[in-house]
Amino acid sequence: MIGVLDGQRYEIPPVWIMRQAGRYLPEYRKCRKKAGSFLDLCYTPEYAIEVTLQPIRRFGFDASILFSDILVIPDAMGRKVRFEEGRGPVLEPIGVEEIEGLVSGNREWGALEERLQPVLEAVGGIRAALPEETTLLGFCGAPWTVATYMIAGHSTSDQAPARLFAHRHEKAFEAMLNALADRSADYLVHQLQAGADAVQIFDSWAGVLDPGSFEEYCVRPVKRIVDSVRERIPKARIIAFPKGAGLNYEGYAAKTGATAIGLDWTVPLDFAQSLQKEVPVQGNLDPTLLVAGGRALDEGVDRVCNALSGGPHIFNLGHGITPDTPVAHVEQMLARIRG
Ligand code: CP3
Repeated sequence: MIGVLDGQRYEIPPVWIMRQAGRYLPEYRKCRKKAGSFLDLCYTPEYAIEVTLQPIRRFGFDASILFSDILVIPDAMGRKVRFEEGRGPVLEPIGVEEIEGLVSGNREWGALEERLQPVLEAVGGIRAALPEETTLLGFCGAPWTVATYMIAGHSTSDQAPARLFAHRHEKAFEAMLNALADRSADYLVHQLQAGADAVQIFDSWAGVLDPGSFEEYCVRPVKRIVDSVRERIPKARIIAFPKGAGLNYEGYAAKTGATAIGLDWTVPLDFAQSLQKEVPVQGNLDPTLLVAGGRALDEGVDRVCNALSGGPHIFNLGHGITPDTPVAHVEQMLARIRG
């Protein structure tokens, strides 16, 4: 897969899928139960290594992604996170009067280090256990997406609380994004030093912003991370995934400095082709096609492969695999891609 990130095209694209370690796998559900809470799974290297490797053993994906979550950053910054069954992440919503304390208490990586040490230990353990040819991806959330959860305290459908907060408290919000960007950059550098071959920045909520806010809250903080990582690791390979960016995908890679861009499934394939002339692309099968299976899945895979085979392409879904996906459909997808 590294070849694609370096601009090469392959007859058969490398493939991995977002959330490839997850609840659709019976072996994941077993391990998750044993670990107790979701965060215990993330913070216990033995478990994190095991669930990261499960989809590689089963499917032989070309890349493996560290098992963790984007919300370990706010957790390590002292905003306690928990995951509730059927509800997702729950945090104490941050108030504007708390931002100064968040920023000043997290001016150095040292403040987060102890909490995140087990994750970095898992990265080393995963790299050691993986086949040499399998790429290991580290990751973090983009500041905007992480901030949306910190502000609302839970998942919402349109991130209205964070959008409102940003418009009302511009200066404090900018300080919060900068703090998240700086510590996320440190975190990615540590993951790369611990054995990750490349990293991905997930901006899952890039699609809810007006164009000006997209530049301020998505482009600028991601560029800040990319610049900071490259200051320390000049050749760092960084995939950025601004989900739902729509027309804002145009110019996004050049503006942020990302090595490659992840495309969600709403991106038209002719537009994807034009983006691919500038930068390697990753994506973008609709995850519900993987649930549906059958002819719909085969045709969807063919459309993506045919459209993007002329340039550097990493096959992936346009967002994470869902828990209701049959394992057999993942096998079908791989057989169709690899022929
Ligand atoms: O891709 C992988 O296999 C690596 C692991 C990974 C997880 N979360 C594990 C997880 C990655 C890369 C993430 C990123 C993440 N986490 C994002 C960005 C990508 C995206 O999906 O948009 C976001 C927004 C989060 C925050 C988060 N974590 C939410 C909103 C939820 C609840 C929704 C859900 O799917 O349950 C989680 C929980 C979570 N993170 C699970 C997994 C496997 C499911 C929890 C469980 O097993 O009980």
